[in-house]
Amino acid sequence: MERPRGFSLQCIAFLLLLRPVLSLALPHPPREPPVYLNFVLNASEFPPEDFYDYIIVGGGTAGCPLAATLSQSFRVLVLERGGVPTANDNVMSQEGFLATLSDVNLYDSPTQPFTSEDGVPNARGRVLGGSSAINAGFYSRADQEFYKNSGVDWDLNLVNQSYQWVERRVVFRPELGSWQSSFRDGLLEAGIDPYNGFSLDHEIGTKIGGSTFDTSGRRHSAADLLNWAKPENIKVAIYASVERILLASSSSSNNSSRQSAVGVVFRDEIGRYHHAMVREKGEVLLCAGAIGSPQLLLLSGVGPRPYLSSWGIPVAYHHPNVGQFLYDNPRNGISILPPVPIEHSLIQVVGITEDGAYIEAASNVVHFPPPGRAAFLRPPQPPPMFLTVATIMEKIIGPLSVGSLRLASTDVRVNPIVRFNYFSNPVDLERCVNGTRRIADVLRSRSMNYFRFTEMLGPRRNFMFVGPPLPADQTNHAQMVDFCRRTVSTIWHYHGGCVVGKVVDKDYRVIGIDGLRVVDGSTFGVSPGTNPQATLMMLGRYLGLKMTRQRAGQSK
Ligand SMILES: Cc1cc2nc3c(=O)[nH]c(=O)nc-3n(C[C@H](O)[C@H](O)[C@H](O)COP(=O)(O)OP(=O)(O)OC[C@H]3O[C@@H](n4cnc5c(N)ncnc54)[C@H](O)[C@@H]3O)c2cc1C
Ligand SMILES: *[C@@H]1O[C@H](CO)[C@@H](O)[C@H](O)[C@H]1NC(C)=O
Ligand SMILES: *[C@@H]1O[C@H](CO)[C@@H](O)[C@H](O)[C@H]1NC(C)=O
Ligand SMILES: *[C@@H]1O[C@H](CO)[C@@H](O)[C@H](O)[C@H]1NC(C)=O
Ligand SMILES: *[C@@H]1O[C@H](CO)[C@@H](O)[C@H](O)[C@H]1NC(C)=O
Ligand SMILES: *[C@@H]1O[C@H](CO)[C@@H](O)[C@H](O)[C@H]1NC(C)=O
Repeated sequence: MERPRGFSLQCIAFLLLLRPVLSLALPHPPREPPVYLNFVLNASEFPPEDFYDYIIVGGGTAGCPLAATLSQSFRVLVLERGGVPTANDNVMSQEGFLATLSDVNLYDSPTQPFTSEDGVPNARGRVLGGSSAINAGFYSRADQEFYKNSGVDWDLNLVNQSYQWVERRVVFRPELGSWQSSFRDGLLEAGIDPYNGFSLDHEIGTKIGGSTFDTSGRRHSAADLLNWAKPENIKVAIYASVERILLASSSSSNNSSRQSAVGVVFRDEIGRYHHAMVREKGEVLLCAGAIGSPQLLLLSGVGPRPYLSSWGIPVAYHHPNVGQFLYDNPRNGISILPPVPIEHSLIQVVGITEDGAYIEAASNVVHFPPPGRAAFLRPPQPPPMFLTVATIMEKIIGPLSVGSLRLASTDVRVNPIVRFNYFSNPVDLERCVNGTRRIADVLRSRSMNYFRFTEMLGPRRNFMFVGPPLPADQTNHAQMVDFCRRTVSTIWHYHGGCVVGKVVDKDYRVIGIDGLRVVDGSTFGVSPGTNPQATLMMLGRYLGLKMTRQRAGQSK
């Protein structure tokens, strides 16, 4: 019996999350699907110039809750380059996850692909809701270290209130099928304990997390949170591509060389330009994500002086760290073909170790053997069929390996060139080796025996791996290191580029410029330990509440 061959790494990445269907139990009464009230309009319907208190660039994971919150008291504009997620059935369903990820085109698909210089394919959301509208839906709050290490003086009560506001609206409790239940039991057998049951908190041990997919497998995302905006105070422009932040001499300072953000220029879907300007005390809030926000600052002349000059971009403010301190958490793991039918699932269960391994599983239906490839199941040669591939993967905390971003073009629609330098820091590599050994421990657990083949592979019961198996001798350090490097992929938790303390201050204001903040994953110098969407939705709500309170305090 030969092992299946010819599956590329990219294919494995895709197998991971193909055609998932989940059955979930609601923690709350069912919520209505998003309605997108009449405040969402095509950009071409906007006037050439208009004025707002807050202009939010990017209707993504952090941008939508921020906009909904600020709109309670202020006039808010959201500028989103993509369309609405409800227009696309694949985007809106768990089953469509892979189709959404692989249906990409240059300028208007909800997923914008990019491949880092490390050679790892990756993706960005380009739709209202941002990456929360194309992601795998796992929902889990930040670890405690995040509040200590993120350079921000968090009001932890307000943090909790903000999480709860999000969770009441878009978070659901999953129900486990046989694969996810066995994976949970396997984690516990592998000593990743205690068992924390269903929990939205980041705790060492094994737990079931939340999901932004509901019982019927329908996606909820940050875009849903716009339904809690104050309709008369908010406008959302879709197909609005922001090209530049407008800066002028700051009127609120005695220093005539100090700059202030006064508005933005955006291009609509038919190529016309519009100006959106801020009113007195107003601000431009960049929520364009870890790739989009540093890109827009650079295009607006905020970045390293010599670098901007090399592009002929007039320098508004010399900011050496824009686009620096960019990170991606490496993903490594294995996929197997189980001999028994299992459910389709996205991420539901996670194992968290003291030394920073974060282990997840998924199970997905794939067309197998892939069309055009030699069948390996013979005799008899079966017709192509749908099989379920089960995956166990780990990401590491941090990471410590640091990368950066630079422009590929002055056209904002073109992805910047990104490099993450996976495993350039040896600690990351050690964490991967440790995490991969934990996967091996899970595979050795009794709970996993059910997923081994008996007769087909001879007297030894063994797994049928799809793609690279773990090194046979997991004590061999060199082989484990080689596995980590050779099979590295992304878990899409990239962050940084406008890091707190480097580009923005602890109130998320761009250092040295008035009226401009960055509020999204680009501000994270450390990942929130867990999957980031919970922390980003919380951040949008949190900062919206803080800014509203601050202005109320000022006007007294
Ligand atoms: C495939 C995939 C799976 C994932 N799975 C999970 C998961 O299961 N759980 C989890 O917690 N996290 C997951 N993540 C990560 C998580 O979704 C992201 O970290 C998070 O959504 C990023 O939020 P953000 O606010 O920083 O940026 P985004 O949500 O990406 O928002 C940025 C927005 O800005 C818009 N924009 C950018 N540039 C411009 C411009 N010039 N003009 C106008 N608009 C612009 C974009 O279109 C986008 O809507 C996943 C991510 C991906 C891609
Ligand atoms: C927005 O523009 C698209 C074409 O880009 C069009 O198909 C759609 O009907 C427009 N929507 C509205 C609400 O005008
Ligand atoms: C916030 O919630 C977590 C549990 O989700 C709890 O452990 C913590 O004590 C709460 N903090 C505050 C300040 O309320
Ligand atoms: C500007 O300078 C004047 C006189 O020195 C001072 O009183 C005022 O506080 C300064 N304003 C700002 C915004 O710094
Ligand atoms: C004035 O502002 C510029 C730009 O922010 C800064 O570099 C400079 O140090 C400031 N000068 C004074 C006197 O504050
Ligand atoms: C890897 O695991 C070993 C053994 O448990 C531990 O001593 C070491 O500190 C871990 N390394 C890292 C980088 O966490």
